[in-house]
Amino acid sequence: MSLLSRIQEKKPEQKNDSSVEATQEETQDVASPKKDLMAVFRESRKSEAPKKKTNQSPVNKHQELKNLLHKQILQEMKEDEEIEAIIPNIDAMAIEIIKEDETFRGKVDRKRVVDELINDLTGFGPINPLLLDEDVSEVMVNGPSHVYCERKGKLELTNITFRDHEHVMSVIEKIVAPIGRRIDESSPMVDARLPDGSRVNAIIPPLALNGPTLTIRKFSKDPFTIDDLIQFGTLTAEMAMFLDACVKARLNVFVSGGTGSGKTTTLNVLSNFIPNDERIVTIEDAAELQLGQEHVVSLESRPPNIEGKGSISIRDLVRNSLRMRPDRIVIGEVRGSEALDMLQAMNTGHDGSLATGHSNSPRDMIARLETMVLLAGVELPVKAIREQIAGAIDVIIQQSRLKDGTRKIVKITEVQGLEGDVIVLQDIFTYQQEGVDERGKIIGRLIPTGVRPKFYEQLETSGINIPVSVFLDEEDWPV
Ligand SMILES: Nc1ncnc2c1ncn2[C@@H]1O[C@H](COP(=O)(O)OP(=O)(O)OP(=O)(O)O)[C@@H](O)[C@H]1O
Ligand SMILES: [Mg+2]
Repeated sequence: MSLLSRIQEKKPEQKNDSSVEATQEETQDVASPKKDLMAVFRESRKSEAPKKKTNQSPVNKHQELKNLLHKQILQEMKEDEEIEAIIPNIDAMAIEIIKEDETFRGKVDRKRVVDELINDLTGFGPINPLLLDEDVSEVMVNGPSHVYCERKGKLELTNITFRDHEHVMSVIEKIVAPIGRRIDESSPMVDARLPDGSRVNAIIPPLALNGPTLTIRKFSKDPFTIDDLIQFGTLTAEMAMFLDACVKARLNVFVSGGTGSGKTTTLNVLSNFIPNDERIVTIEDAAELQLGQEHVVSLESRPPNIEGKGSISIRDLVRNSLRMRPDRIVIGEVRGSEALDMLQAMNTGHDGSLATGHSNSPRDMIARLETMVLLAGVELPVKAIREQIAGAIDVIIQQSRLKDGTRKIVKITEVQGLEGDVIVLQDIFTYQQEGVDERGKIIGRLIPTGVRPKFYEQLETSGINIPVSVFLDEEDWPV
């Protein structure tokens, strides 16, 4: 179905794609969407280079028709008319222009021009088709002429382009303005969210050298389940059974991994293992978790406002959550001083907590947690910090995005305790890469190391029985 017919089919209340979810207080100063659009329009027209009449290439005729249509829409739009009202007429306007000016005949794809223009008017400009495409999980705009997307785990350069820097800026402004944020030279980086929950980051020159840069992590309407992850080969059914048991037995589980390695997705799957009768408090920078349980309280941190005031950090929320009688605390990502509060909570009865953090290996994650605790500004000897970590965290899941785009749980590691000054880690499952096939796909096996975790007995006393064979490689099974 073409975009045009999709938009035309939408109900009026769904049409305003350009509005971004905003809190009540944040929306106060925002100009009406129509006013915004007009400003965007004028800006984009100002920046257009004058067209040379002699150049008759299809690309220029395409742009020329689009510009003419732009102009006509601006002229025909009445003062208080909504942009949606004019959309059904755009195609007719295009037909009219082509009828009057025969230089367009055979030189332009009218439907494409109209579709692109509607994208600019109602959605987020040229990247709208990527936002509507369910196979695309991430959209990256590196200045006007390099738009990348991630499709099925693979990064692709698309043939989508923006007219110029101002065109990209206008889309960024359209995203951030409704939530009361501003992007300009004095605040050149901003985080925002699209109405559907997709996470947005924008950074502009002079900080971004390629031009205005936009990164959108699309919100998955239908989040992956444990069965999906098993089917993708992210983990085996045995590993899933083990992780389910760890969560049910109230162990503290930490998911570690690089950017985009699938940490949040795994955290979401793990959180869904929590029994339905427990009270769960989730803490995130941008609410991404989608839990199926009934009793969930979701908290979201807040960046400072334009005057630099009013910020609420993840640490503030972790502290607050302890007074909310949580059965479980789930922290989207630990990256700073909140690590100390999290570890203390885990050590003082708030067991069964789940969190993620950025790192390349379980050992590295431990080192990073140490550094994060130091950021909390409390003078603690390293040994005491290690005691806290070893006492708090039971299992580290290491997540990785392999070169072929697949996401894997490459290690499930038990934190066994402190021996002298060293935290003892024991891998329970690992990924063994065996080669690469002719299509570049990585071949490997997820295997148990053969070691049963020290907390195996604890699992059994919690009434959770896992067959011993889960911890044995099939090749080592007794015959
Ligand atoms: N196991 C998986 N298999 C395939 N795709 C996955 C898997 N896990 C996550 N993805 C996809 O990878 C992208 C990144 O996932 P996710 O947000 O979970 O990563 P992350 O590590 O939390 O990223 P960030 O570091 O940016 O927070 C998403 O588009 C998601 O749909
Ligand atoms: Mg994440």
